[in-house]
Amino acid sequence: MRAYRFDSFEDLGALRLREEADPAPQRGEVLVRVRAVSLNFRDIAILRGRYPRKAVPGLIPVSDAAGEIVAVGEGVTAFRSGDRVIGAFHPRWFGGEMPSTIQTDSYGAESDGWLCELKAVSQEAVVRLPDGLSYEEGCTLPCAGLTAWTALSGPTPIRAGHAVLVLGSGGVSIFALQLARAVGAVVIATTSSSAKAEQLKALGAAHVVNYSDDPQWGRSVRALTGGRGVDRVVEVGGPGTIAQSLRAVAVGGEIASIGFLSADNPGIDFFALKASGASFRNITVGDRAALLEFNRAVAASGLRPVIDRVFDFEAARDAFGHLESGAHMGKVVIRVGG
Ligand SMILES: NC(=O)c1ccc[n+]([C@@H]2O[C@H](COP(=O)([O-])OP(=O)(O)OC[C@H]3O[C@@H](n4cnc5c(N)ncnc54)[C@H](OP(=O)(O)O)[C@@H]3O)[C@@H](O)[C@H]2O)c1
Repeated sequence: MRAYRFDSFEDLGALRLREEADPAPQRGEVLVRVRAVSLNFRDIAILRGRYPRKAVPGLIPVSDAAGEIVAVGEGVTAFRSGDRVIGAFHPRWFGGEMPSTIQTDSYGAESDGWLCELKAVSQEAVVRLPDGLSYEEGCTLPCAGLTAWTALSGPTPIRAGHAVLVLGSGGVSIFALQLARAVGAVVIATTSSSAKAEQLKALGAAHVVNYSDDPQWGRSVRALTGGRGVDRVVEVGGPGTIAQSLRAVAVGGEIASIGFLSADNPGIDFFALKASGASFRNITVGDRAALLEFNRAVAASGLRPVIDRVFDFEAARDAFGHLESGAHMGKVVIRVGG
């Protein structure tokens, strides 16, 4: 089979395609013919040394894939050849407390990921692709989709009438917009692009604020809610956006802390945190049980993932470059094998 590996984390040129031995499924494993993978900001963050956890070079990158089972190992009862599946972002977090293996299991950072033609994994590390979705659509669900689902769930699930703030037009934010609209919540979005603002409105955002033109966008978002603030911030910006997010959130609302897109880190004002009256929840994608719930929601709601562009396997480097450019809206996908 063919597989990509990052020989080093110097630059995109270190992403090399090579011929490797086909893996064989061991007891309890399924062999997946990978059909599509999707990229996440973490795939760039790992390359640029901005990933907050350990990452070792030499691995097959990418955490999110969809494919077809082509063989099963001894003792596999959950799946058979021909089943269409997606990988779970955390292959051994099934529910409850996070396992201690969460770090070493991390695809592309500490273990081989999915940018390859064949992959053998435990039958527990995949779930069925929701009916009606293509492989290209399905491969966007494991990280970005599930993270948005987790951010809108939690102790206070988002309901009709709640106000949700999504930051920028990347993978997680667009899924959060779609899921929030599906339950009748009001979505306010930010973006740095006036062209994307129109697309965000077309997807159902009630209001869009340009965070480049308006550095005090948190105050503007609050004003758009009549001064009350939003019930949930889907916080993908991190150190450089948290201060404005605290201005935008309602007393009793929640900051779902997800990402670190912003490069600047001016520090957090404790009194702003305290005075916000909001809670702060750290998100780590989600477990397998949540992925199954999310898949049911996708199937029932008819949600179609927003795909910006699909690249051929041979053009994987260009796909990484496109994601890094920030020109995309929603997800960047690589088709694997014809
Ligand atoms: N903790 C978790 O479980 C988890 C899971 C998934 C992702 N993440 C993290 O969440 C973040 C988003 O991931 P992603 O894959 O959705 O990213 P992505 O698709 O690469 O998002 C890129 C978009 O984010 C927007 N953006 C960039 N810098 C921004 C800033 N300073 N303020 C507001 N928006 C900004 C831009 O949108 P515009 O062009 O519209 O301005 C850009 O196009 C990343 O930090 C990722 O590592 C964490």
